[in-house]
Amino acid sequence: MGKIKTIGILTSGGDAPGMNAAIRAVTRAGIYNGYTIKGVYRGYEGLMRDEVKTFTTEDVSGIIMRGGTILKTARSQDFMKPEGRKRAYETCMREGIDALVVIGGNGSLTGAQAFAEEHDFQVIGLPGTIDNDLYGTDATIGYDTSMNTIMECVDRIRDTANSHERIFFVEVMGREAGYLAQNCAIACGAEAAIIPEDMTDADQLAEFMHRGIRKSKKSCIVIVSESPKCGAMYYAERVKKEFPGFDVRVSILGHLQRGGSPSARDRILASCMGVGAIDAIKQGMRNVMIGYRYNDVAYVPFSECIRTDKPFDKRLITVLNELSI
Ligand code: F6P
Repeated sequence: MGKIKTIGILTSGGDAPGMNAAIRAVTRAGIYNGYTIKGVYRGYEGLMRDEVKTFTTEDVSGIIMRGGTILKTARSQDFMKPEGRKRAYETCMREGIDALVVIGGNGSLTGAQAFAEEHDFQVIGLPGTIDNDLYGTDATIGYDTSMNTIMECVDRIRDTANSHERIFFVEVMGREAGYLAQNCAIACGAEAAIIPEDMTDADQLAEFMHRGIRKSKKSCIVIVSESPKCGAMYYAERVKKEFPGFDVRVSILGHLQRGGSPSARDRILASCMGVGAIDAIKQGMRNVMIGYRYNDVAYVPFSECIRTDKPFDKRLITVLNELSI
């Protein structure tokens, strides 16, 4: 493998606050270390269509505080197929891109792994997703900002829940993971969280209703992880039927959880990870995601980071249960 001269960078999948800080960090650290940096627009779609621009340090000025991604993003079906990845490889050859930094979540890094293996290409991943579901990193870029956004929203919902003495089921994102729901429930002083890692079955819901409401509380907040079958609406309907004495409302926070200016923590995480990505390329590392563990950069092979069984800290469940009496 020859010496790396030009590095492509793209964002893929759902956007996350802090992606711009990561783009800035990769660009600036790359240029600082003598590389040419090429921004690829619209994720893998743009890589297949050759939507590429050489970046200067000025191209990433004034973006560290902006939510979303200046590179735009997409969920690409075509890149999931070998023909799509071949087109992407042809763009890299045409543009002289000899290494790629991909900022995205589980699906994006799965695509990165396939591309790297098929074309023997040097790819480095950065975990960019509000879901925090990637293995090998304590936090993903965007997770902290999203938690803060949810917390602000739920604090407001609490005011009206108290005034009307209502039960609110607040649905948050997270795909298959309950990190956002569980930690936000703790941060908001919610009475319960319903997460995929600890599914509340019928009896648990009933038990919670008796324990949490009947005793002392007339209003309460339950944070529910999104789910096609049993999201906030499902639980609200059940409570309406099984506990008709309660006034129940649902609030689905939706995409507002993904927007907004990144928190200090996300900006710093993204900056350190971006510098870590260039370091990894300098050291000749291939096909790893840059994680952050125990206050230090970690290099996590793609095959590890996309595992679906990221350990969930069950102590968080105890913390919420003990504090929500
Ligand atoms: O992966 C990030 C995420 O926001 C998930 O939490 C959510 O399930 C999904 O993306 C929503 O995707 P879209 O914006 O494509 O509807």
